Amino acid sequence: MLDRARSRRAGGAGQPSLGLVPTMGGLHAGHAELARVARNGNDVVVVSIFVNPLQFGDQGDLDRYPRTLDEDLRLLGGCGVDVVFAPSVEDMYPGGEPLVRVGAGRMGEVLEGASRPGHFDGMLTVVAKLLNLGLPGTAAHYRAYFGEKDAQQLALIRRMVLDLNVPVRIEGVPIVRDADGLALSSRNRFLGADERRAALVLSRVLRTLRERALDGRPLDLAAARAEIAGEDGVELDYLEVVDPSSFTPPAPAHEGRTGADPVLAVVAARVGTVRLIDNTFLPGVA
Ligand code: PAF
Repeated sequence: MLDRARSRRAGGAGQPSLGLVPTMGGLHAGHAELARVARNGNDVVVVSIFVNPLQFGDQGDLDRYPRTLDEDLRLLGGCGVDVVFAPSVEDMYPGGEPLVRVGAGRMGEVLEGASRPGHFDGMLTVVAKLLNLGLPGTAAHYRAYFGEKDAQQLALIRRMVLDLNVPVRIEGVPIVRDADGLALSSRNRFLGADERRAALVLSRVLRTLRERALDGRPLDLAAARAEIAGEDGVELDYLEVVDPSSFTPPAPAHEGRTGADPVLAVVAARVGTVRLIDNTFLPGVA
């Protein structure tokens, strides 16, 4: 039984708060951080592990996605998680492929959405189902946690919650990086040693853009793109600067945006067979 003192973390009314951390497994220290943040803010923490077929365009990519349930459970054992929910495809989609889905709209068609058609519709559909499964009734008692590495995913989930009045608070958790700067991802395990070294160009370029933004210098995206494209074994998909809530080009400063509203630099590239994404906020870009 949860005591009253613990339930105050949720903002009162005696009802225990629930923190949900949706994942697809293949867990790493970034997921452990999501679970840690959820643990600190809630009475009950649920982690879901479900490789969602709906968000994979390519059957090969779905088959290759890491399925490491035993290791995942060991990692979560050390994170103070109360419940691990690991449904089968039949549990989540008992009627087969769902007829009714969430559509991501225009924001789901650019950048990641342009490279992975249908991906965001499938992602939002499963996230809506997972949120509905745990729904305790009010946003004061319900939070769900997502990593900021998948920035477009996070923006779309925030937008779905706003547009469909889902009673949950969405919490973004900052990217966790290896010591050399590589953003943690379940897909990093597929990188060979040379590919891993080459992949560092992504975080390096983002760091340079951030330094330039902080110093008030022009960003020079063309040079940044050329640096990525020039790295052996790296094929650049996109490097763009966007408004972090709409994923459209940031409004010019004279249209109401101030240099204090950070914009987001987002990058995606294929390194060997592995597709990687990364991003960083750029403060002070007017
Ligand atoms: O980011 C992920 O791991 C997945 O897209 C999510 C949010 C768990 C939905 O399947």
